[in-house]
Amino acid sequence: MARKLETIFACSACGAQSPRWIGRCPECGGWNTVAEEKGRREERQAAGPDAPAPRALADVDADELPRVPTGLADFDRVLGGGLVPGSVVLLGGEPGIGKSTLLLQVAARLAARGRTALYVSAEESARQVKLRADRLGASAGGVFLLAETSLERILEAASRGSFDALVVDSIQTIASEAPAETTDVPVLLIGHVTKDGSLAGPKTLEHLVDTVLSFEGERFHAHRAVRAVKNRFGPVHELGLFEMTSAGLVEVANPSSLYIASRAPARPGSAVLAAVSGTRPLLIEVQALTVEARFGNARRTAIGFDATRLALLLAVLERHAGLALSAQDVFVNLAGGATSEEPAADLAVAAAVASSLRALPLAERTVLFGEIGLLGEVRAVTDAERRLKEAVALGFTSAILPFGNAAEAAPFPDLATRPVRSVEELLKSL
Ligand code: TYD
Ligand code: MG
Repeated sequence: MARKLETIFACSACGAQSPRWIGRCPECGGWNTVAEEKGRREERQAAGPDAPAPRALADVDADELPRVPTGLADFDRVLGGGLVPGSVVLLGGEPGIGKSTLLLQVAARLAARGRTALYVSAEESARQVKLRADRLGASAGGVFLLAETSLERILEAASRGSFDALVVDSIQTIASEAPAETTDVPVLLIGHVTKDGSLAGPKTLEHLVDTVLSFEGERFHAHRAVRAVKNRFGPVHELGLFEMTSAGLVEVANPSSLYIASRAPARPGSAVLAAVSGTRPLLIEVQALTVEARFGNARRTAIGFDATRLALLLAVLERHAGLALSAQDVFVNLAGGATSEEPAADLAVAAAVASSLRALPLAERTVLFGEIGLLGEVRAVTDAERRLKEAVALGFTSAILPFGNAAEAAPFPDLATRPVRSVEELLKSL
């Protein structure tokens, strides 16, 4: 059948069409912008019912992403509600942190819900994985095991069975580049992280995958945290908390109970800093000890914190807050081997020192952050919202922060905030 070419007219400025030539575009009001166009309308009609139909962004429902909940609630929450079919998730963490344990448990939970998962171990023998699975009570049917290092063979095996999830342990021991295969099976890759905290292996990997999860041992408390640092299908900086037990990872149902239990009763000289290390929020316990100096010059010692900065803070506290520190030996330590080079640590260090000197503990479940200037002023710092979010997630209920950051506490109505302008106000608020 001969194709009928229709003549139509379109505005070169706004694209509005009309069946005949007109001098002024009725849509945008442009003069002499409407010109003849051949065949365009026919082309559109010829595209037929199979043509992709754009939808208004407002009509797209983000919840309609099909998700497969793994049943491990904290893990699902970090993902944004479960595994998205066809997505690739990278779980990074230091050796020994529990990556293999976590994903074997995820596979077992999926199996317990009637789904199947293929666990590929390129690091350990099937027997080793089986021993771990027994320990975790994860040996039920539904979890399939493959000890293999060749990517091609792994993908072949994965395509032969119809699995609901594929775990690859680990990406560093797979003999090929990152899988670029697009299937409907969600893939969970384990990746080792080097000492400096970056993922080992190809840097491009982080860009290729949909989700990057980071699995860390919190330095501040003896538990494990998983969080999304990149997530195409869900939130980032959501925290999943686990405790490593003899039977694997157990979700920490109520983080605040864990914190109260491990920190109560509050001791004089202890303050909790809401720090940011890189892009990662981190709570660090700052400990200070003041004792009367015996031999002439008072000593100032800092571990994990800059000694010059400590000397400066002590001088500011003496001069602007009236703390008699010149005859005191002062020791400051960031617990658990943590370090902080951030000026934002000032407020917590000052609070810990004041608390030790006065022999009075700070209010429980309180975090602090803020920079202190030489004039005794408290200055605003970056990432206040992220710090507060972490504190709330970990069960803290109050925060002492710079006045200049007070507005950023608005998203946390349940957090009692005490904004301070100066060290004098800080000491009053303790
Ligand atoms: P693993 O998952 O092998 O770490 P990764 O894969 O990140 O290297 O687990 C590491 C540690 O966890 C190991 O030292 C032993 C400990 N663990 C437990 O305490 N309880 C358990 O049930 C399991 C399986 C491991
Ligand atoms: Mg492992």
